[in-house]
Order: sequence, then structure tokens, then C-alpha cells
Amino acid sequence: MSPTFSSPPPPPLATSDWVGEAVRLAGPETLVRRDEPLARHTTLRVGGPADLFIEPAAEEELGRLIAFCHGRGIAFFILGRGSNLLVRDGGFRGVVIRLSHPYFSRVELSGLRIVCGAGARLKAVAVEARRHALAGFEFLEGIPGSVGGALRMNAGAMGGATFDCVESVRVMDYDGVVADWPAARMEVGYRECGALRNRIALGARLAGSAGSRAAIGEKMASFSQKRWGSQPAAPSAGCAFKNPAQIPAGRLIEELGMKGARCGGASVSLEHGNFIVNDGTATARDVLDLIELIRGRAREARGIALELEVQIIGDPASRAVTPTPFEAGDPHE
Ligand code: EPU
Repeated sequence: MSPTFSSPPPPPLATSDWVGEAVRLAGPETLVRRDEPLARHTTLRVGGPADLFIEPAAEEELGRLIAFCHGRGIAFFILGRGSNLLVRDGGFRGVVIRLSHPYFSRVELSGLRIVCGAGARLKAVAVEARRHALAGFEFLEGIPGSVGGALRMNAGAMGGATFDCVESVRVMDYDGVVADWPAARMEVGYRECGALRNRIALGARLAGSAGSRAAIGEKMASFSQKRWGSQPAAPSAGCAFKNPAQIPAGRLIEELGMKGARCGGASVSLEHGNFIVNDGTATARDVLDLIELIRGRAREARGIALELEVQIIGDPASRAVTPTPFEAGDPHE
């Protein structure tokens, strides 16, 4: 009788098994990088490398890549401007896809509507709207994100939220199938969009109203002044926590006496309690430690469970991390 062997568990997928295949899906115009440090692509300037970093040049190419990853069980993440993102120090095992190729960054005006790609900057949308005397987009002026990121979390500022001006969203499912969905179908809430939890936003059609260029300009200038008077210029990921029902998170953190609280190179901004800023030496671990410190105090002192607004991805570091130093610049550009 021949001996029987129980079959061994399948080995974990080695990076080298799929990277070559994924790279072969890329067209000539596509940017592909191995082990790209994600600290370079987030406004907080922390985070380890992505196995693969890809900027697809067209919708079909993106569709092939997504379907490939989904079908093979390879993690993927769509990166916007990285303005609301905390990448852990160990980096991201899988593919990070950024939609910043001009194909995905377009902003086109048509009557009272704007058709824009997910990779377009919100600021570019606001500026283009002003140029054409189109009102309703002023609040986007200083949000440092992309259209895709803003859709995904229904980003807001100055009393406005992204979906206030969205008519429809061009979405791609994880099999690479594309469709245009009306805003009503997007399951929108405060800082969330249910339909984009398992779909990708490729772009949107936005609707505004006829306005005067001067009035739009004034409104944008006053928003900008308010923002610069109350929010830090140092690298951050924007507001760290969602506002709980009881009290704005910034005020709560101030009342807890935590402005200036520090873990390593990360500290609570002195300008605004809901911002964690990087002094240039922070690691993701520092930021995460500070988040836990704040949450613990809020829970103990006030019984409030602070919910993160910032999205966290990636693996913890398996070894000591050297922070990636950043060059001085404007994180709110
Ligand atoms: N406040 C304090 N101390 C602080 C910060 C704020 O007392 O350190 C008080 C303010 O005086 C105000 C209240 O808290 O009475 C609310 O503060 P603020 O007007 O700055 O607005 P916010 O609720 O903290 C929201 C968005 C911001 C957006 C601003 C401006 C959330 C979580 N945050 O902040 O969005 O820029 O309004 O409209 O909804 C982001 O999403 O990343 C973000 C920063």
C-alpha cells in the first residue's frame, strides 16, 4: 500500500510571484516603481514602502490591474493626494495605485457642470470654477485632497461637503467594470460614502450655479483666511478624528489639555487640537501612539469614543524605522 501524505498548506504568495505579471499589464505611458516609499506620497510624510506603485494611464489599463489584483488576492489601494492617510512604517504589501496621470486629473467645464477625474486636485476644481464664474465649489479651495479621496470620504470644510455638488460618479468595480452612478445611489453620510467602500471612483460630474467671479473670489479668500488662521501649516493628515456628536474633536482635545502633547516626532498642533503634526522626524508609530493617548484620555475623562477620520493602511514595521526626512514645503498646496 502506498503511503498517504497530507497536503502541506499553500505557501504565502511571494511578492516575486505576482509583481512581474502586474508590471506586464502596464502600458508604455504608465509609471511603475518597486518599493516606493509612501512617506513621499502622504501629507503627513510618514510610512514605509509599497511593493509596487503604479500610475495607470487609462481606464482600461486600471481595470485590468484591479481585476488582476482582485482575482489573485493581491491587496491594492487607491491613493489620492495622501492627505487623509496614515501609512504604517512597514509599508504596504501589494499595489498602490495613484490616479494622477493627466487622463485621471482632467477638469472640464460644460455649462453649469464640471466633469473631473478622480485624480484632479480639489483646489484645481475650485479655481477652474471661479474662472468660469461657477458658484458652489468655493469650500473646496483649501482641502488638500483629490476628487477621488473627497468622494470616498465625503470630505467637507466651511459648512460644505463634497456630495453637496455631485450629480453622478463614475465608478469601477473590482472586476474592472465601469458605470456612471447618480449621487442618490452612493450611500452618502458624514465623512463616508458606502458605495465606494468596495468600488473605485474614477471621476465625477459636479453641478454648480451661475455666480459672479468677484463674489466667488471673495468667498474663497475668506475661507482661506479662516483656514490659515486656525489650522497648522506643518505636515499633517488634516483632522485626525471625526467630530463626535457632543463636541468638535478639536475643542475636546484642547479642553483635555492635550495641545502640544507629543510622542516622538508627532505632536498635537498648538493651532488646532484635531491636527497631529510631524516635526520632520516622526514615524507612523509615533503618530499611532499619540492617537491612542488622545483616545484613552477622551474615553477616561469624558466618556467619548473618538472615531478616526484618518485612514490607516499598511504593516507595522518589523525592525527599527528611520523616519523619511521631508523637505520644507506647503502641505496645503
Ligand atoms: N476648536 C477649539 N480648539 C481647537 C480647535 C477647534 O476650541 O483647537 C473649536 C473652534 O473654535 C470651533 C469648533 O471647535 O468652535 C470647531 O472647529 P473648526 O471650526 O476648526 O472646525 P472643525 O469642526 O474642527 C471641520 C472639519 C475640517 C474643516 C473645518 C473647516 C471635521 C472633522 N473637520 O473642522 O476638516 O477644515 O471644519 O470647515 O469635520 C478634515 O476633514 O481633515 C478637516 C480638517
